[in-house]
Amino acid sequence: MADRPVLILDFGSQYVQLIARRVREQGAFAKIVRHDITAERCRELNPIGLILSGGPSSVYEENAPKCDSGLFRLGVPILGICYGMQLTCQNLGGAVQPCPSAEYGRTELNVLTGENVLFQNVDPKTIVWMSHGDQVREVGPEFIPLAATPSCPVAAVRHKSLPVYAIQFHPEVSHTTQGSTILGNFLNHVCGSDGSWTMAQFVERAVDLVREQVGPDEKVVCGLSGGVDSAVCAALLARALGDRLVCVFVDNGLLRQGERDQVAQAFGESSQAELRVVDAEAEFLGTLANITDPQDKRIRIGHTFIDIFKNEALSIPNAAWLAQGTLYPDVIESGGDPDGPAATIKHHHNVGGLPAELGFKLIEPLRDLFKDEVRRLGLELGLPESIVWRHPFPGPGLAVRILGAVDKPRLELLRKADSIFLEELHAAGLYRETSQSFAVLLPIKSVGVMGDGRTYDQVIGIRSVQTDDFMTADFSRLPYDLLARVSTRIVNEVKGINRVVYDITTKPPGTIEWE
Ligand code: XMP
Repeated sequence: MADRPVLILDFGSQYVQLIARRVREQGAFAKIVRHDITAERCRELNPIGLILSGGPSSVYEENAPKCDSGLFRLGVPILGICYGMQLTCQNLGGAVQPCPSAEYGRTELNVLTGENVLFQNVDPKTIVWMSHGDQVREVGPEFIPLAATPSCPVAAVRHKSLPVYAIQFHPEVSHTTQGSTILGNFLNHVCGSDGSWTMAQFVERAVDLVREQVGPDEKVVCGLSGGVDSAVCAALLARALGDRLVCVFVDNGLLRQGERDQVAQAFGESSQAELRVVDAEAEFLGTLANITDPQDKRIRIGHTFIDIFKNEALSIPNAAWLAQGTLYPDVIESGGDPDGPAATIKHHHNVGGLPAELGFKLIEPLRDLFKDEVRRLGLELGLPESIVWRHPFPGPGLAVRILGAVDKPRLELLRKADSIFLEELHAAGLYRETSQSFAVLLPIKSVGVMGDGRTYDQVIGIRSVQTDDFMTADFSRLPYDLLARVSTRIVNEVKGINRVVYDITTKPPGTIEWE
């Protein structure tokens, strides 16, 4: 059962990935597919249920995205959400019209009494999130109304003879207070999900899959960055392949304090995999000497990394595969799944064309997972919390956190200041509350006074943000007392710094990094 997916047909809703996550939270394996998937292909994928997502179109527009009407005859349970409801009802004899006025926001839903499995254990009056300009006006004799709101008389329906349900509101957003109960009812009581899609099961299946993919004499090369995705990817591959996995960690000299040791500890003794640490500080600092332009820094670092990684990878006997920690949102957004929706925005900082250039095949064992699932997988595989819950860190490392030219003394200053900040954040129990927190070395000097003397020293910027997707962010409201401790310690303990400032810019208009 856990292997059979719930397919989510993507009609362009901004919430489509959220629906998938909510389904997975209920222990069912959700996969997002293109809206025009054929009934035939659908049958092959053997889903336990289909969810038709919302979307920005109107079903009566000429070019509105439609679905294969054969889907409704497969006998597979269907839940239409918002646009998906309108499409479902239109397909099965209902009429859709513009609302007298668009309904947007929290609304009270009246659940009608009667046999109503979708609303089992839901209050008779419950708050739901609406966001629609059209609605179903008439459902015809084949449907039974299940719920209504003051301005949407047909807010939920069930088909009389088919396992088809439809709702006008969005159960996936947290504003719908009993949304998970409603989705759970559909999955467990209509689709017959047994809620058994767990991380332990995922590990078992993923390990089998890797063993099937990789030949007995072949080795897999996995680049470690210090970040959570590559670490979890490596841990999973190590479980499947043992010493046929070779991890390559390029120490570019631009890492945070203690980072190299942490990676070595997690992948050294505890794993059968081979760990190759390449000490490349000199090459990176050489290519960065006197370079101040941020993009120039990034390009130089990228090229140097590829050269070094390539050399190392090509020196590994029988290396045939390159592992990449690609996640599900990247696969979906880059159009990388043949059944998935078309590409939207691609934002990948990964190794790009490297596998082909090396003559390697590409293996991506995390491509079905969301970020929070990757973390759960990491814990399941026994990785330490310090790696699993680590904030993201840019590939170009501290080089883009030193504004202006990068050299060893500046890196040393920044590393110390950054580690003081993170240490205090951990001590205050706030590290996991923030999404990304770090120090930046500014390219200016300012006047200060220490003891009886005047100082003229450098400035550290402290940045801490809250974000779900790193596309937009707000600055963290850190307690003043914590900021005061961080500031005092940095100025006292890091020679060369006499001033600390806190960055209170949101993104946009700012970015998270300073360069
Ligand atoms: P910005 O600064 O664009 O950052 O708001 C958004 C997220 O991306 C990370 N970032 C990078 N990651 N290479 C990376 O691997 C880069 O060049 C890069 N620039 C920014 C940043 O740390 C944040 O998490």
